Amino acid sequence: MTSLAGKSVLLIVGGGIAAYKAHELVRLLKTRGAAIRIILTKAAEQFVTPLSLASLSGEKVHTSLFSLTDEVEMGHIQLSRAADLVVVAPATADLIAKMANGLAGDLATTTLLATDKPVLIAPAMNLRMWRHPATVRNVETLKRDGLALTGPNDGEMACGEFGPGRMAEPDEILAAIVGMLKPRAQPLAGKKVLITAGPTREPIDPVRFISNYSSGKQGYAIARAAVELGAETILVSGPVSLPIPPGVQMMPIETAQEMLEICQGELPADIAVFTAAVADWRVAAEAAEKLKKTGNAPPGLSLAENPDILATISRDPRRPRIVVGFAAETEKVTEHAAEKLKNKGCDLIVANDVGRESGVFGGDRNTVHLVSTAGIENWPNMSKDEVARKLMERLARMLAPDRKAAE
Ligand code: CTP
Repeated sequence: MTSLAGKSVLLIVGGGIAAYKAHELVRLLKTRGAAIRIILTKAAEQFVTPLSLASLSGEKVHTSLFSLTDEVEMGHIQLSRAADLVVVAPATADLIAKMANGLAGDLATTTLLATDKPVLIAPAMNLRMWRHPATVRNVETLKRDGLALTGPNDGEMACGEFGPGRMAEPDEILAAIVGMLKPRAQPLAGKKVLITAGPTREPIDPVRFISNYSSGKQGYAIARAAVELGAETILVSGPVSLPIPPGVQMMPIETAQEMLEICQGELPADIAVFTAAVADWRVAAEAAEKLKKTGNAPPGLSLAENPDILATISRDPRRPRIVVGFAAETEKVTEHAAEKLKNKGCDLIVANDVGRESGVFGGDRNTVHLVSTAGIENWPNMSKDEVARKLMERLARMLAPDRKAAE
């Protein structure tokens, strides 16, 4: 039984029928030795009382943003900062919507907006509410913001319907809490990881450019994984619509040439992972003014080849110890990847099929093949986050083969 002694959990109880399970969750957390602080929303007070939770936790239960004594003793900012983890259980559709939109009208939502600690939510609601496009959108937003989810489970609900929406059981929430509070190995502490991500934009004239469909999701996931493993992480990224992962040093660029210069400027590094979909060509001579229709034939675009950033860094005298390329292919995936491994001089190619029906560009999942001189390793279909974690753990082991990474 993992002890949570010395750990502090802030439990925010939302107003749903599953709120009664907060009692059992508090009891379980107490048996593990965690310190618990509790916030009840107004709606939650309809289902459970501050008194019952205060008796179980042995702590005062907070309910009001405008409580003078609470603000004097422990302001809401302090409440969120003092915790190692914030848990929202049950997370109702209303609370999820407020969190996704950054509303801060009461103590619970203000605290959630003010916290810089990891947040775990245990959604609970009617299955139609869970499946509603608004909730789906809000949950996606929260996941993108880096919040962790446990549940909801399938099962019979208080409303008599059957399906997803039941809050995870207290022992499941406890397991998720233990997982999140477990000290993580940081095998890349003191190491520098350079990552390229997203597309590049090659200007045609002041208002037009050549680019591609890259979403940057895989590269950003790799950056998050590198930070988790303790690396100093430099993310050189083309324009994408993703939040900057906490803890990375962000270097925004537009063109391939800019990306190359930033990468060269960041050497030496221990590991470099090139996930960017660099435009292979740029317009040879960018027009200084907007190109106008003339009524004659459309203007021809004369293209020049862009520098190959992966190949250039692989051959740099200050080459990182491990250089990893990605190969975006639509056919003969591993054959083309093996050629790229040789031509570009890197240590590993992560090959993936980006054919239109694969859903890789812009999607959340990926099926990759690791191609190195040691052979080909086929990984099963995984989320881009899982690919990122597995890859970074592998690279950490390659860097220090005597140490077992991330255990
Ligand atoms: N790459 C790069 N600089 C370029 C082109 C590609 O650093 N100018 C890197 C990518 O980040 C990726 C790898 O090279 O890690 C392979 O990219 P990919 O687009 O699959 O290959 P290309 O070299 O562009 O070859 P092709 O388009 O002919 O398949």
